[in-house]
Amino acid sequence: MSTTKFISISSQKGGVGKTTINILAASAFHFLAKQKVAVIDCDYPQHSLQGLRDKELELLQTSPDKAAEFRALGRQAYPIESCQVKDALGLAKQMEGEFDLVFIDTPGTINVPGIIELWKQLDYIFMPMESDRLSVEATLPYAQVLEKFAKGQPGSRLKQHYAFWNKHIKSEKQEFYDRTEAYFTEQNIPFLKSRLEHSVNYKKDAMRSTMFPLAKEYQRLGISGLIKEIGGIIYGTATDGATDAVASTTANKAR
Ligand SMILES: Nc1ncnc2c1ncn2[C@@H]1O[C@H](COP(=O)(O)OP(=O)(O)O)[C@@H](O)[C@H]1O
Ligand SMILES: [Mg+2]
Repeated sequence: MSTTKFISISSQKGGVGKTTINILAASAFHFLAKQKVAVIDCDYPQHSLQGLRDKELELLQTSPDKAAEFRALGRQAYPIESCQVKDALGLAKQMEGEFDLVFIDTPGTINVPGIIELWKQLDYIFMPMESDRLSVEATLPYAQVLEKFAKGQPGSRLKQHYAFWNKHIKSEKQEFYDRTEAYFTEQNIPFLKSRLEHSVNYKKDAMRSTMFPLAKEYQRLGISGLIKEIGGIIYGTATDGATDAVASTTANKAR
């Protein structure tokens, strides 16, 4: 049986942080937990994740300092493959058994050929939401569609999909967050405890590096907690040590 886990931070809403968090998670598991990670970018035609990698590769070509910094890491970058959704399943099948974790960045719409078959190939889906009504209203039907067409369907490996808050604003009234979580729980859509804080730091390239580990100053913002929680779900409570490695390394770096 394959031990490869297929994961996607996805939703049917643009701008909620899917690409950013797929990168954060891929990088955390690659660099900190030393897992064998690969990424599939099937957000055609933007391919913004692949675009970020291309920009970084270009920078390594033009900046000897950056190139030296990369060599000093002593770790190859994880592979990124780009394709259309309809071809992502074939790519995923090829990766089966070769990687520990494959992160898949999908478009912010469900109206693309092949999306249902791709969902069925995923072990877990994590759905980021912002604290605005439109974001929540897009996530509810997404979760329902996953429940109806993917989870429990023949040939599906989808175990569960979870909602979580991105761009959380601590100073905001928490009533909207609490009410939404209660409603989702009523609808049997589990909610992650971890929230990613809203921060202007996400505009910086270092925040979304696909080749370097996350810089120390960005370790706050709820990232360690989110990665640890996701790791706990992927590997189960009896972890093989990978989750603990992520948790302790990220916690140390946050200090
Ligand atoms: N926690 C956050 N705080 C502030 N900005 C964020 C956060 N997460 C993502 N962003 C920003 O939101 C924008 C959309 O993120 P992106 O990952 O491209 O979303 P999606 O892939 O869902 O369209 C980007 O400019 C990104 O930097
Ligand atoms: Mg995106």
